[in-house]
Amino acid sequence: MTDLIRIRRPDDWHLHLRDGPALTDTVAATAAQFHRAIVMPNLVPPVTTGDQAEAYKARIMAAAGAAPDSKVDGARSGPSKPFLPLMTLYLTDTSKPEAIRTAFEGGQAVACKLYPAGATTNSDSGVTALERLTDVLEVMQAIGMPLLIHGEVTDAAIDIFDRERVFIERTLKPLCQRFPKLKVVLEHITTSDAVDFVKAAGPQVAATITAHHLHCNRNHMLAGGIRPHYFCLPILKRSSHQTALRIAATSGDPKFFLGTDSAPHAVEAKESACGCAGCYTAPLAMQLYATVFDEMNALDRLEGFASRFGADFYGLPVNDDFITLKRQAWTVPDAMALGAAEIRPFLAGQTLGWTFETDTADSNQ
Ligand code: NCD
Ligand code: ZN
Repeated sequence: MTDLIRIRRPDDWHLHLRDGPALTDTVAATAAQFHRAIVMPNLVPPVTTGDQAEAYKARIMAAAGAAPDSKVDGARSGPSKPFLPLMTLYLTDTSKPEAIRTAFEGGQAVACKLYPAGATTNSDSGVTALERLTDVLEVMQAIGMPLLIHGEVTDAAIDIFDRERVFIERTLKPLCQRFPKLKVVLEHITTSDAVDFVKAAGPQVAATITAHHLHCNRNHMLAGGIRPHYFCLPILKRSSHQTALRIAATSGDPKFFLGTDSAPHAVEAKESACGCAGCYTAPLAMQLYATVFDEMNALDRLEGFASRFGADFYGLPVNDDFITLKRQAWTVPDAMALGAAEIRPFLAGQTLGWTFETDTADSNQ
């Protein structure tokens, strides 16, 4: 049995860091494990311009400098290279193609995020009809700028468990036909329909998979009591979909790579009559993924999923330092700090079989 695995330092290709005092904690948690992260732009107000992205990046970098080492057991020391946030722009109905081109070519943003208006947390300024963005998408296709998609319809008549599948049929398939060279990441996929779509598409289409969708299905959230810390969007689906995700993530197919969608909300905002969507997985991300890959007898494929395929998709080099994961029981803390607030990490109080440590040994192997 493998008790220790050493892999190249991973990156998180879908992350919410929030802003203000929370940054110290969220950045420390991610920087303890990952070198780079694609940072979601759904702040209030959203990050829509290159200058806003650059200013947000500076706040994140400042927080990274100020961040203490993670307090989580098993995440002993910080990374050997400074954390690098990769910024994204939030598309709206009024996004302008030339401004997006300038932000991409000037290095202010690496991708654009499409939130269908009203689909999820802080998406009210999102796109109401993709037809409004034809000129933007043409430019993105031409310059090779990836479009990151929250793939759910917002039609109130569509059942929440069907919203991803219907989005693929109604919106994504026509979009990929109209823009056959556009680089697309279908974010945080939750269904076998999404797995099938991504596998059948060309190499320009990929998907991120979260740790919580690999660990859980809707029974974890709803059977025997309603558990708000399992509530995220897209919502957890039935176990057959979870199984499809676990197979895709551990298959070695480079179209599927790591994106935690770690989305922190203070404990009062989750434990509420109308609780917010989002699971805070960043402090235990690699422990969660390692547990699933171990269960699937696929630990030898973890490095591709976590540390190679995303970088390849974005045309970036893989990291040259390493991390180590150890088979060792570890209990997730009950509570953590989120600025002045308190937050419950995903699986708070539960015991996982793997711990994380940064490898301080020579990296050039
Ligand atoms: C995210 C958030 O809280 O910002 N929530 C979530 O449930 N995943 C938004 C998102 O990615 O949908
Ligand atoms: Zn997200």
